[in-house]
Amino acid sequence: MKNYIPFPVRAGTTSRQAHANLPEGSYEREIGKEGFFGPASHMYHKHPPTGWIDWEGPLRPRAFDLNKLSGSISCPWQAPDILFNANVRLRFWHLSQKMDHLVRNGDGDELLFIHEGNGELYCDFGHLSVRAGDYVMIPRSTMWRLEPQGSGIKLLLIEATNSSYQLPEKGLVGAHAIFDPAMLDVPAIDEAFRAQQDEKKWQVRIKRQQLISTVTYPFNPLDAMGWKGDLAPVRINVADIRPLISHRYHLPPSAHTTFVANRFVICTFAPRPFESAPDAIKIPFFHNNDDYDEVLFYHAGDFFSRDNIKAGMITFHPCGFTHGPHPKALQNMLVQKKPATDEYAVMIDTRDALETGASTRDIENLAYVNSWKKS
Ligand SMILES: [Fe+2]
Repeated sequence: MKNYIPFPVRAGTTSRQAHANLPEGSYEREIGKEGFFGPASHMYHKHPPTGWIDWEGPLRPRAFDLNKLSGSISCPWQAPDILFNANVRLRFWHLSQKMDHLVRNGDGDELLFIHEGNGELYCDFGHLSVRAGDYVMIPRSTMWRLEPQGSGIKLLLIEATNSSYQLPEKGLVGAHAIFDPAMLDVPAIDEAFRAQQDEKKWQVRIKRQQLISTVTYPFNPLDAMGWKGDLAPVRINVADIRPLISHRYHLPPSAHTTFVANRFVICTFAPRPFESAPDAIKIPFFHNNDDYDEVLFYHAGDFFSRDNIKAGMITFHPCGFTHGPHPKALQNMLVQKKPATDEYAVMIDTRDALETGASTRDIENLAYVNSWKKS
């Protein structure tokens, strides 16, 4: 995107370096285009930009507690939609029994993010054991099923509707930063895979344009003897992500990009030391991410920039308003209690407006908009 102001201009009292050396008593807010890559300005405010006392109208920050969704669902296509648009569909799925059928997504690649539990994934390409913290990217039209262990498995399903997941450009830091592509696991044609092959009747539920068709085979179609090629499901665990950090500069969320697809990105927040330079800010800066809707799923740990948020919750910050740390986090920044964050969270940033699914009505925290008020 070409900047229409060809060089940074300044007015009044400012810092020259973003996210550092803020003018005394100021609150910095970034106003930016194209995620964190386009033209941007930094405002230095006398008050926190999230200091509203009243809010009316349909645009507002939202929070949903996915822990309140009840009941196990045997097929991912029945899992409730949480947020969606033409490019991405986010569902939350609780599976407690092993699936008795196969599924195939004809609408796009599917990214599973395992929030709780572990189990066995069987697919066209073989067998893969999965556990909490795994991202499992399943290419469009792959047949698969899951067998959870113990009390079941809870996961996010993130469909890249009509597109494909790719790894992001790593730019200056090179291909092996954050995680080495060699860390990606693929399913194996192993003993467990061969053992599940049978001559019984199997159904495949195919989703295409959100409609389900059921195809029945007189045998298990997961019957590969082998495969070769450069297209397969891949798995990486959040524990294998080695986040970029700078001791002097708070990096924007885009530094944590894990996967990209058409008109949305997925970033992973993994534990990392706080910035140590005295003049560097240590928590997310206030910002309007003016071209993106932002979604954050809280997977595990202590979510340092948010009060009253626990694992299994999701926040949705549509573009058009400023957000940033909660008051307690802002205060704690000055008295650092911990040397590092210990949070794992999945961020989904979408270029187009998201809609909420009907099931979110019963699980929304309607007071979330007030959560930036000082208690
Ligand atoms: Fe944000």
